[in-house]
Amino acid sequence: MKVAVIGAGYVGLTTSACFAHLGHDVVCADLDVERVARLNKGEVPILEDGLPELVAEGLASRRLRFVLGATNAVLDAGVVFLCVQTPESADGSADLSFVEDVAREIAGVLQPGTVVVTKSTVPVGSTRFVQRVLSESGARAEDVTVASNPEFLREGQAVHDFLHPDRIVIGCDDPGAAVRVSDLYRKVQSPVLVTDPASAEMIKYASNAFLATKVSFINAIANLCEAVDADVREVALGMGYDPRIGFQFLQPGPGYGGSCFPKDVAALLHTANQADSDFELLAGVIQVNRAQRERIVEKITNGAGGSLSEAVVAVWGLTFKAGTDDLRESSALAITRRLLEQGAAVRGYDPAAGERAAREVPGLDIAADPYEAAAGADVVAVLTEWDQFRWLDFDRVRDSLRNPAIVDARNLLDPAAMRRYGFRYDGVGRR
Ligand SMILES: NC(=O)c1ccc[n+]([C@@H]2O[C@H](COP(=O)([O-])OP(=O)(O)OC[C@H]3O[C@@H](n4cnc5c(N)ncnc54)[C@H](O)[C@@H]3O)[C@@H](O)[C@H]2O)c1
Repeated sequence: MKVAVIGAGYVGLTTSACFAHLGHDVVCADLDVERVARLNKGEVPILEDGLPELVAEGLASRRLRFVLGATNAVLDAGVVFLCVQTPESADGSADLSFVEDVAREIAGVLQPGTVVVTKSTVPVGSTRFVQRVLSESGARAEDVTVASNPEFLREGQAVHDFLHPDRIVIGCDDPGAAVRVSDLYRKVQSPVLVTDPASAEMIKYASNAFLATKVSFINAIANLCEAVDADVREVALGMGYDPRIGFQFLQPGPGYGGSCFPKDVAALLHTANQADSDFELLAGVIQVNRAQRERIVEKITNGAGGSLSEAVVAVWGLTFKAGTDDLRESSALAITRRLLEQGAAVRGYDPAAGERAAREVPGLDIAADPYEAAAGADVVAVLTEWDQFRWLDFDRVRDSLRNPAIVDARNLLDPAAMRRYGFRYDGVGRR
């Protein structure tokens, strides 16, 4: 089947390359001239395991092409996936302007019978919204069906998650269109859940909000553990063995970040407020997350001897989690900004996004490796859980610090080992 994908970001590029891998003819469009040119040469601009190989395979087989502008992609497509960004607006709602722009752009050139699918995360009611925009812009309602097919991939494992999803959700009032969309996934082993559009849209937000709630919950438990001298790692282990709870998303840290959770939780709360439906729990989740970042700043301040003015802080890890180069809404970056605001000199190291982080955060110095970042610092803060930080020469790190203090916001390191090396070690929720 001929598939058009609009947006060549984390979701759009993964979707395009994976659909081509599954045997479909895919045209992927973006507005970014340089991105499209690089992709047509096989250069993948984001860090995703296995993605360069799939893009190369798609280009070589000619099942994958990249074009500039949505209209050039949709001309003879049977299914069009909208994978553009839906950032947070000032009032917390999801900004649908990118989705709307694409719908207006493509309305006049869609083939009769096309299914337009929103894969971007969009609030309840967006399927109807897209249908309306398409109609207003010249698409005949009887010619075009709109469906929702939310994406659940995790950055860093996007290709794996796309090809081995836990579930495929398709929200559509037209059963024939739902079958056409599910047909695209027929080589993928996964339960397929066909729902009405509003439920599909809600499934995505409810899932992300639930995971964010787990993160805030374990962060609150971690803080309580510190107050009562319990160890959150033991607590999370003991909880996780219960299959009703599970181990995932029970790692305390500097608060959730990334391009999805913060904006999706805010958008769901906005939806609840608009619907006059009380959802104080979500407001609490956001509040705990905000406070957690501040708590890490406090720990770093203590590690530096009680004041950040004149202090030098080494920050290890800047992306929102390990395994990705994405800095969007990264807790590590938010904490770095707070450190700088409070007068610290910050030297950061990140294996995937150091240079870009320096461009985003004025005043942040970037080191070539974790040792260079630590040299002469008053405290080291581990803010992203990159595995390489476990395997450093900690004698060398200790000797190069002005003051041997480590704040481990990811509980990545072994506290007893760190104390044996001679560090003052502070993790999250650990005895
Ligand atoms: N990143 C994730 O892990 C993830 C996971 C699941 C769902 N989502 C959702 O998927 C959507 C996309 O997220 P992303 O991280 O891929 O965003 P992204 O910012 O990486 O990619 C969006 C791309 O769309 C392009 N674009 C914007 N307007 C366009 C237009 N008119 N024509 C052609 N291209 C256009 C942009 O240039 C950009 O390259 C969001 O709604 C997000 O919430 C993201």
